[in-house]
Amino acid sequence: MSEALKFPDGFKWGSATSAHQVEGGNHNDWTEWEKSPQRIAQLKKEEKDPYGFISGRACDSYNRYEEDFDIAQKLNHNIHRFSIEWSRIEPEEGKFNEKELEHYKRLIDALCDRGIEPMVTLWHFTNPVWFAEKGGFLNKKSPEYFTRFAKYVVDNLKDRVRLWITFNEGASVYAGFSYLNGQWPPQRRSLFEYLKVRKNFIKAHILAYGEIKKISTSHNFFSAMRASQKSSTLCNAGASHNVEIGIVESNVYNAHGNRWYEKIIGRIYGYQRNLYFFDKALPYYDFIGLNYYHVDRRVPGSYRILPRQGWMPEMGWETYPKGIYYCLMKLKKFKKPIYVTENGIADAKDEQREKFIKEHLRWIWQAIHDGVDAHGYLYWSLLDNFEWHHGFEPRFGLVEMDYATLERKIRSSAFEYSKICKENALNF
Ligand code: BGC
Repeated sequence: MSEALKFPDGFKWGSATSAHQVEGGNHNDWTEWEKSPQRIAQLKKEEKDPYGFISGRACDSYNRYEEDFDIAQKLNHNIHRFSIEWSRIEPEEGKFNEKELEHYKRLIDALCDRGIEPMVTLWHFTNPVWFAEKGGFLNKKSPEYFTRFAKYVVDNLKDRVRLWITFNEGASVYAGFSYLNGQWPPQRRSLFEYLKVRKNFIKAHILAYGEIKKISTSHNFFSAMRASQKSSTLCNAGASHNVEIGIVESNVYNAHGNRWYEKIIGRIYGYQRNLYFFDKALPYYDFIGLNYYHVDRRVPGSYRILPRQGWMPEMGWETYPKGIYYCLMKLKKFKKPIYVTENGIADAKDEQREKFIKEHLRWIWQAIHDGVDAHGYLYWSLLDNFEWHHGFEPRFGLVEMDYATLERKIRSSAFEYSKICKENALNF
């Protein structure tokens, strides 16, 4: 007999991308770094084909977003997460580019026209060059710089967008890669800088949160309604009266042994890795965005408790669907709605993706059943895209990209996922 696991009414289904990974044609600290001698030196011999590691035109989604959103619509998605590229909006310090703002307005309207709610990330790993030259998030004025940009964007898009995210994985992933292990620009290795950057992310988030809330509450809801009623294209008519601002962090399943010292180390590490930002930024966020991918075995003794689980060779990650359940249950204590803002598998052959999605959804369903206030699931990613220091090799997409022709081809797992989206239920 088949079993159906129903998700709550209004649960959102979709996928996510980020500007630098799909748009193409960007100019920011990453594009500068991709071609720098330090970066080239980092590549292994067999990776010397520079094009595989230079974002370049990526998926050209800057020009082809309508085609992308047609696919998302066809796949029954009703939410889509993307990011606005700060370096396009503010290419020079304090000078905002209205043409780029108009571009993002059209992009949002294209989503709304297709019945897909936009979820907008304001920062997803990349910085304008001027900001990076000032020290990026090490600069003590970085919270003000970021907030100035965030205010400009929200002020101009507040009638169109309800769900905003300040930072994607600032404290959990970016600070570590960029300031502790030296893999990402600016390739620093300093505990002191790492801690400072994390603090500045928190300050920046709290400052931006306050300013965005001021804009959204001082905004006249009725005039927004009138303006938006004139246009049938807006799916979020008068969105500004209930703007919600969230934080996205990556959480891992923090496996550890059960000896007393392993438990203590596990607790400290788990807090720093998964919960730090959510804890420090309380109460200044309206929802939590959880990105979940894999197991982390940095704490000793874990194999005694949890044998090796699944494997994602394209990333070298150990997968563990039940881990998302444990992460969600830990996040419950913050008493905020939760969206799974990223979860996905790099799987070029599309052999494991359907199973991966279904198994994670099964555990998300369980978490909801056990009291977690989950509001949506966004698969990472809609398209194969530029996977940061791994280049174009890992294939996370529901849609396969032919980078030579830019042709998009929907993978069969995407159709399986689309059934779940349509039925708001997982059928076995
Ligand atoms: C990031 C994405 C990335 C994905 C897979 C997340 O940490 O937000 O940009 O592509 O993981 O590595």
